[in-house]
Amino acid sequence: MIPISLPSMGQEEWEATKEPIFSGWITQGPKVAEFEKIFAARHKVKHAIAVSNCTTALHLALVALDVKQGDEVIVPAFTWVSTANAIMYCGAIPVFIDIDIKTFNIDTTQIKSKLTPKTKAIIPVHLFGLCANIDEIKKMAPNLKIVEDGACAAGAGIGDRPAGSLGDIGCFSFHPRKSVTTGEGGMLTTNDDQLAERLNMLRNHGASVSEEQRHKGPKPYILPEFDMIGYNYRMTDIQGAVGIVQLKKLDQFIDERQKWADYFTKELSSIPWLHAPYIPTNYKHGWQSYVLFVDETKSPMKRNDLMEFLQQKGISTRPGTHAVHMLGYYKKSFNIKPTDYPGAFAANEYSMSIPLHNKMVKEDFEYIVNILKEIK
Ligand SMILES: Cc1ncc(COP(=O)(O)O)c(C=O)c1O
Repeated sequence: MIPISLPSMGQEEWEATKEPIFSGWITQGPKVAEFEKIFAARHKVKHAIAVSNCTTALHLALVALDVKQGDEVIVPAFTWVSTANAIMYCGAIPVFIDIDIKTFNIDTTQIKSKLTPKTKAIIPVHLFGLCANIDEIKKMAPNLKIVEDGACAAGAGIGDRPAGSLGDIGCFSFHPRKSVTTGEGGMLTTNDDQLAERLNMLRNHGASVSEEQRHKGPKPYILPEFDMIGYNYRMTDIQGAVGIVQLKKLDQFIDERQKWADYFTKELSSIPWLHAPYIPTNYKHGWQSYVLFVDETKSPMKRNDLMEFLQQKGISTRPGTHAVHMLGYYKKSFNIKPTDYPGAFAANEYSMSIPLHNKMVKEDFEYIVNILKEIK
């Protein structure tokens, strides 16, 4: 079986975990700080703040931007459920916008019509590693705060501007299905000093002083002040140590993925019912996933039958992701019909992710292409 995704970890990551384990500094400490420093440098931002996963990153981003009960936050209808859940955690209202089926990202032409006096922020998603068109979003809604959901987009960018540096706050995931992983894990990025300070405190119960600062300082009696309600969303130093090693491999991982994504796109172009991912000029894809669109009006099999067929052939596939407005809770709570967002609906029904990861060998890619080409 060729799995849809596999983390690329080995001896180096294993060795890196020894230091925090043997030093006894297990929770957020020097390794997390080092990981943050190199993540910030790689993504050309002033601050990176590590957290427990990208869902908690999204939640903290909205809290830091003061998103509250009754505020509206714009979100694409086709994304992982937690992009919308983070809005619900704040008591705010997710306002869905359809996607552009070509890129699977938010359709920026629809933003203006959804703006109201209650709109506080927008969360464009860089789905599968392709950045959303942030410049266009800024034109459409110049006063909105932008939280980039870059869960899949470590190392991606537009021109020489990396994901995470494009909006007010960026959020990343280090779940094992992402190109670099710490098991679970997340990162916030920002160029705003005040936001960074708030995020730093919010992830640690709202404490004014971190454990590391208390340990280093000469005044052991100091207890932190708690001026805000915070959370325990910290990353452990074991994860931080793994993250440092993984991050050093990020560009190599993306280059390899880019090479094989190009191979897929070239080879599969002869199949009229399969549409390869579209990449606008000047965009650097992060290739968290390679997601095809199955045109059932021309294909010999329906998408789900095709996925079953590939499974039998030893090739693992998944739908790209889900349309959040079609999920039980959102459908019922907001009384939405699947076809209210036709792009997200189509992506939900006809997208198909095929394996693309750094543990695959040439023969795996050739095998996938040959099997797909044989389907008549
Ligand atoms: C677009 C998107 N947003 C958010 C998340 C949540 O990330 P995490 O699992 O780190 O909480 C994911 C995870 O798959 C995602 O794909």
